[in-house]
Amino acid sequence: MKNIAVLASGRGSNLEAIIKNIENGTLQANLACVISDNKDARALQIARDHGFKAIWLDPGPKKTWLLPEFEENYVKTLQEHKVDLICLAGFMRIIKKPLLEAFKGRIINIHPALLPSFPGLDVQRKALEYGVKFSGCTVHFVNEDVDAGAIITQAAVPVLDEDTPEILSARILKEEHRIYTEAINLIVSGKYRIAGRRVIKTS
Ligand code: GAR
Repeated sequence: MKNIAVLASGRGSNLEAIIKNIENGTLQANLACVISDNKDARALQIARDHGFKAIWLDPGPKKTWLLPEFEENYVKTLQEHKVDLICLAGFMRIIKKPLLEAFKGRIINIHPALLPSFPGLDVQRKALEYGVKFSGCTVHFVNEDVDAGAIITQAAVPVLDEDTPEILSARILKEEHRIYTEAINLIVSGKYRIAGRRVIKTS
């Protein structure tokens, strides 16, 4: 069984769904560790409550990314835990060279919009304000550009006239919890190939 790590900065509902699906056998991976840049992340508590290793790693002085020496420490910790696949789940920092090089093609992220529409932050509000009639979520590979790597899977949800950012976020989150497990299962199974930007299932 492949080892995964979840990196999360906050609430941890995607982590919680991943753990639930590992515990009920839907997700066939071993959760080697949960790492956060935020000491107070609920994600760390969730991991501990379920008996998984929860690690806070100093993110250093920058707000939205990790200086190389700090990112190297993330690499070292992930390697020590023999992690095969890094799953970002609300990890609010841009991933740079040290991690991208050490885990080439082995970092994935979940994003609460239908990429390539609405990359970045606060995207449920942006989707609502733009007036799209459908939004959703995307699991994608992480590369040097933000929210721009090859798409593994997506789910769409309708945007309703009476939606607020909170209501839309909740509708999307429900799909996030479902598709992240599907995407992780696919990647750890190795039953895919990449053609250009396309991630194609193989059997
Ligand atoms: C999720 O909606 C996730 O898609 C989003 O943060 C939330 C984390 O929630 N990620 C991003 O916006 C990354 N650009 P969670 O901590 O409850 O899983």
